[in-house]
Amino acid sequence: MSNSVIETLQHHCTQRDFTDQVVSDETLAKIITTAQHAPSSQYLQAYSLIEVTDPAIRQALAKLTTRATVATQGRLLVVIADQHRNVQLADTPAAQQALTELDRFLGSVEDATLMTEAMVMVTESLGLGSVVLGSINNDTQAVIDLLHLPKLTLPVFGFQIGYPSSQPETKPRLGLDAILFKNQYVEPTSYQTELTNFDQRLHAYYANRSSHARDEHLRDMTKEALGSAAKRRDFFKIATRQGFLPEA
Ligand SMILES: Cc1cc2nc3c(=O)[nH]c(=O)nc-3n(C[C@H](O)[C@H](O)[C@H](O)COP(=O)(O)O)c2cc1C
Repeated sequence: MSNSVIETLQHHCTQRDFTDQVVSDETLAKIITTAQHAPSSQYLQAYSLIEVTDPAIRQALAKLTTRATVATQGRLLVVIADQHRNVQLADTPAAQQALTELDRFLGSVEDATLMTEAMVMVTESLGLGSVVLGSINNDTQAVIDLLHLPKLTLPVFGFQIGYPSSQPETKPRLGLDAILFKNQYVEPTSYQTELTNFDQRLHAYYANRSSHARDEHLRDMTKEALGSAAKRRDFFKIATRQGFLPEA
C-alpha cells in the first residue's frame, strides 16, 4: 500500500543545512496556505506566523536556538500560538475570558503544532526541507520582545525552510508493539523485545549515518531532557504575563 503522502512521510527527515537557492514567495505561500488545511481545534485557527527577514533578529534567533544556519539560510518563520485575534472577535467578557484559559491555551498550541507538521509535509512533498525549532523557547521572553508579540500570543516553534544541501538518512521509528495498545494501557508481551530491537536499529542508524556518526542508545536520548527542562521552567509564568491561564 503506497501513495505520495505515505512516501513523503516514510522518507521524512529533518534538514538543517540549506543551499543558496531562494525559496520563492510563491512556494512559501503554497506551503502555508496548503498547511492551513490542517485540522483546527474548534475551528479557531489559533495561530499566526511571523516571517523573520531582519538579519539582526535572525542572528538573535540563531544564537538562542544554537543553530548558526538560522541566521542566514532559507526562510525563517516563527509559529505563534495566537488567541489575540479571537479575543477581539469575542463579544462578551465571558467568551473573552474562556479564550485565555488553559483549554484554549492548549487549543492554540495544538493548532500551531498541527499547522507546523502540515508545513513539514508540504515542504517535503515539494522537494524542499525544513527544521522545526522548539529551541525558540530556550528564551521565550527574548522572542516575545524581539517580535513584539502582543498579549495572548506565545512563540511555539521556529520553522526554517530551504533547499537541502545534503540528504541525511531517515531515522527509524518505534515498531507498533511499543506504541499501539488495545483498549487499555497494557504493554503487549512483545513490548520489551520491540524496545530492544528498536534500540539496535537506533544504534545502527547513529553508528552508520553518513555525517555526525556517534555511539547512541535509546536511554541516551532520554537524557536530552536534562538540558531543555531547565530552559522551559519559566514558560507558564511567561504565558500568564502574556494574558493566558488566568486560573493558574
Ligand atoms: C517539537 C519539536 C521540536 C524540535 N526542536 C528542534 C530544535 O530546536 N532544533 C533542531 O535541530 N531540531 C529540532 N527538532 C527536530 C528533531 O530533532 C527531529 O525531528 C528528531 O530528531 C527526529 O528526526 P527526523 O525529524 O529527521 O526524523 C524538533 C522536533 C520537534 C517535533
